Amino acid sequence: MVNGPAEVAAELFASHVGRPPEGVWSAAGRVNLIGEHTDYNLGWVLPFAIPARTYVAAARRDDQVVTVRSVQHPGEVVRASLAELQPGRQRGWSAYVLGVPWALARRGARPGGIDVLVDGHVPVGAGLSSSAALECAAVSAVADLAGSGGDPLSRALTAWSVEHDFVGVPCGVMDQVASMVCTAGHALLVDTRDLATAAVPLDAAGAGLALLVVDTGVTHDNADGQYAARRTACEDAARALGVSSLRELDDVDDAVRRLGDGEARRRVRHVLSENARVLAAVDALRQGDWGGLGRLMDESHASLRDDYEVSSPELDVAVDSVRRAGALGARMTGGGFGGSAIAVIPEEALPAARVAVGAAFEAAGFAAPVLRRVEASTGAHHEAVEAR
Ligand code: GLA
Repeated sequence: MVNGPAEVAAELFASHVGRPPEGVWSAAGRVNLIGEHTDYNLGWVLPFAIPARTYVAAARRDDQVVTVRSVQHPGEVVRASLAELQPGRQRGWSAYVLGVPWALARRGARPGGIDVLVDGHVPVGAGLSSSAALECAAVSAVADLAGSGGDPLSRALTAWSVEHDFVGVPCGVMDQVASMVCTAGHALLVDTRDLATAAVPLDAAGAGLALLVVDTGVTHDNADGQYAARRTACEDAARALGVSSLRELDDVDDAVRRLGDGEARRRVRHVLSENARVLAAVDALRQGDWGGLGRLMDESHASLRDDYEVSSPELDVAVDSVRRAGALGARMTGGGFGGSAIAVIPEEALPAARVAVGAAFEAAGFAAPVLRRVEASTGAHHEAVEAR
């Protein structure tokens, strides 16, 4: 019998920790189909979970200590007592796990000591939310073992708090909600103002299409600073327009007229037009109008490139080349400045597209991209692992 990744995580836990885990939990990476840089403006997003997952094997301890091991960081065992967990004090990859008992305790739970082993299969730095996958798998494990309950959405907010408050990244809620709540075969429409969610069918294969991720292999050094700068620009614009968030505005033309000719005008035009594109994309998907979805993805990319200015040369080459190879639409996905693009492309065009995109990267002098076909997968859950 071939071991699946959950069994592997359980066995590695047993051999490194010296006893079997009480369970294995997993959570998915995500691709955002459309709705970029809208979440921290309380707008709409439409992500889906991808097949790549992060696995967490865990067992309670009878003291107040947390230990964290990772298959991706062999030989390292990070130990901390619950009492010393504090934002800024624990850093590096293990902070994404150590922040979990801290965030749960802030929400009134009483997690005890725990041993955790992580096996991450979501590519790191590819803009596919490996950090959200780790947080969501770890929240699922720690919350289940502490008996603290919580529905998927409230667990997603705990995971977001790990990233936002403990690790200190000024992100929106999209990635954690996607990783925790998404269902197979569907994208997830999230209204980030009231956190209402709706599953939207996303059966590309059923329509003879493929969802193709083009990973540029680039992670931009400046990405964090640029992300924070975009966020601040939106908050400043909202203040100038007399609203608490850009979500309060729905008349794009009126808002941009009031902002004059500068950068703020373009930033706001992106956010408001992107909100409208998300809702139009949901309609297109519900009507099986894949061509319409593709056009909206193209418009989204142009807006992110020209108005929001978060694309990169590699992302633009990825989008242009996959489109020339027959994609119905393509766009950068995630925060930008590197990471990945997502395309919707006829299945029969896939082999030639792989060659064409690779050739376009080579011609531009860029390192070879990694192309992955993905499908809409399931969010975080407890894994059924057979005892041996
Ligand atoms: C990153 C953040 C998300 C979101 C996207 C841009 O992935 O973590 O919250 O803001 O960028 O849409």
